[in-house]
Amino acid sequence: MKFDAPSGPNPIDRMKVVGRTTSRIDGPVKTTGAAPYAYERHDVVANQAYGYMLGSAIAKGRIKRIDTADAERAPGVLKIVTAANAGPFATSRHNTARLLAGPEIQHYDQAIALIVAETFEQARAAATLIRVDYARVQGRYDLAAQKDTAPLVGGSSGEGSAAAALRTGDFEAAFAAAPVKLDATYSTPDQSHQMMEPHASIAAWSGDELTVWTSTQMVAWAVQDLSHTFLIPQEKIRVLSPYVGGGFGAKLRIRADVVLAALGARAVGRPVKVAITRPQTMNNTVHRAATIQRIRLGCDREGRIGAIAHESLSGNLEGGRPVTATAQTRLLYAGLNRLTSMRQAVLDLPEGNSMRAPGAAPGMMALEIAMDEMAEKLGLDPVEFRIRNDTQVDPEKPDKRFSERQLVRCLRDGAAKFGWSRRPMRPAQRRDGSWWVGLGVSSAFHNSPAMKSAARVRLEPSGRILVETDMTDIGTGSYTIIAQTAAEMMGVPLDMVEVRLGDSHFPAAAGSGGQFGASNSTSGVYAACVKLREAVARQLNMEPDRAVFESGHVVADRRRVSLADVARGGALTGEDAIEYGDMSRSVHLSTFGAHFVEAAVHAYTGEVRVRRMLAVCAAGRILNPISARSQMIGAMTMGVGAALMEEMVVDKRFGFFVNHDLASYEVPVHADIQEQEVLFLDEADEMANPMKAKGLGELAITGVAAAVANAIYNACGVRVRDYPLTLDKLLDRLPRIA
Ligand code: MOS
Repeated sequence: MKFDAPSGPNPIDRMKVVGRTTSRIDGPVKTTGAAPYAYERHDVVANQAYGYMLGSAIAKGRIKRIDTADAERAPGVLKIVTAANAGPFATSRHNTARLLAGPEIQHYDQAIALIVAETFEQARAAATLIRVDYARVQGRYDLAAQKDTAPLVGGSSGEGSAAAALRTGDFEAAFAAAPVKLDATYSTPDQSHQMMEPHASIAAWSGDELTVWTSTQMVAWAVQDLSHTFLIPQEKIRVLSPYVGGGFGAKLRIRADVVLAALGARAVGRPVKVAITRPQTMNNTVHRAATIQRIRLGCDREGRIGAIAHESLSGNLEGGRPVTATAQTRLLYAGLNRLTSMRQAVLDLPEGNSMRAPGAAPGMMALEIAMDEMAEKLGLDPVEFRIRNDTQVDPEKPDKRFSERQLVRCLRDGAAKFGWSRRPMRPAQRRDGSWWVGLGVSSAFHNSPAMKSAARVRLEPSGRILVETDMTDIGTGSYTIIAQTAAEMMGVPLDMVEVRLGDSHFPAAAGSGGQFGASNSTSGVYAACVKLREAVARQLNMEPDRAVFESGHVVADRRRVSLADVARGGALTGEDAIEYGDMSRSVHLSTFGAHFVEAAVHAYTGEVRVRRMLAVCAAGRILNPISARSQMIGAMTMGVGAALMEEMVVDKRFGFFVNHDLASYEVPVHADIQEQEVLFLDEADEMANPMKAKGLGELAITGVAAAVANAIYNACGVRVRDYPLTLDKLLDRLPRIA
């Protein structure tokens, strides 16, 4: 189905199932432990052996010699696989660092060997017997040290664009002439995804055919990348990933677990399972890379932005991608004179890559503090300052509009609901016992990409509907919204729908990432259901456009037939994909929101407590309010982590992330945030897709950390521009108290 004109009315508008609060249909199997995750799939294939990954002990250099003799003789060991004996394999172009290295080493804890044994414990024990002589060379580990030398990289739109700053108007002249100016630099640290389920895979070969049970966000991408890696056609690869314990971007692309499992399985002629252990996730896999961002704002005295510049520096391995921290700034606020640029240092740290709202999240961490600082200089309320600089068109390309843009309403409704009017304009005005208390706000903004997505729907002789698509559910609720979509389209109750996901033998969906999953995968199911409805109507010689599907029946021209009767002679199938044309590129399909935070700062210790949070969002039709709310709450929590806790500390001498467990890389828990609320504005975006829905998983985190930082400033008057805002950065600067 080509979607190239505004959707108009369709069966989803009935909203008998879609849009209703619906508990996860996969909830019972997950809460009872019956949903098998990749590492738990003991039964899918017999005779599994265990692999344990050994990582490099240096960050840069080469292996001079690797002595595996003792390890090979250790109990239970079947094989030590290294780059030297693994047989042919390549590195997919989507993996910046090799997933099995040797002799060259690109980063600390890069895999250099897989120990395959009868048990996990035997494999791990044998790993300690491997002796490696390295020739270590000094790498580049300090982003700030390359502040003045790192080259410009492609425009904020990413790969392929020319390496230049993006300019609209004359920023320098407008900034020089502006009566009110801000010029400030912000930094964000390296952060780790730390989803609950670390990367894990089982691989089994049958001749030259490879089957993997893995944990991935993108089944079709995994097939492509494995095809590149093992130099075999995609048809010979099957990827299964029906249950995924979170990803946040870490599982968009294949990682060492699946490549090592497949190499190990090929080497021992048995299925092999490999999990990257929790400590290994930090340095072996990918992370959100640190940034240093300079923001300049020039305003007139009424608070209208006339000049805006956002320049970001990040680092990565040679060939890695930059952090696109300036992308939101290009679209969020008005201003005639604009400058954005990205520079990239080469760092010999583990690979930086996508993590929830890549670019947007760290970019908004800086921009939304800058907006708060500017509002203060102007003597304006920060909500009002943002509203004054709203734009209904792309500030760089004024003929391009947003399909829907309700930022102002999000800010106004949120302010009213949160009690914003009680916020003191000046900081350090409100005390509650030993605590300074303040309020902070930020905007939220993220685009919602249109992506092709396919599905197959079958009406079975029982009258039940079976949906198959390779879409993943990474804890987001895909199973449920897909079932709701099929139930709505076919006019059956939810429990008449079965959903099967995460198998590359099913039609390829958009997958889970970039907040493109929910809207596109359900639209693909919508398209397949349209086909199935046509097949049903044809079978009954009904006009498809006149057929109404309701209560398990199809009704047209005074005939009413049950779906079970239609399929009695054999199942009927509909298969199709949603595909998008020029309309989707002619507008910005975007989502907006506002975050409000009440923070308390202890007047003596600097300890910070987040007391209340509210998010108000406009993100198209909300398919399932309860799981949408969960996504929001999760991202708000993650934003608090970014604001207050999360930092991978770089050892700048040896080049690795020092804190590599959840004791020293802290994330918020329930007790850290007392109250969280979410409101969705009514929105059905006719330009987006037939579901009129957009994504919100990435929108949800944008701005949160800045709203926390702004609340801390309002509470105690200490402005911190260097995340995370740990208490040591507040303590010496807290107001003097009697
Ligand atoms: Mo998201 S970082 O595209 O999983």
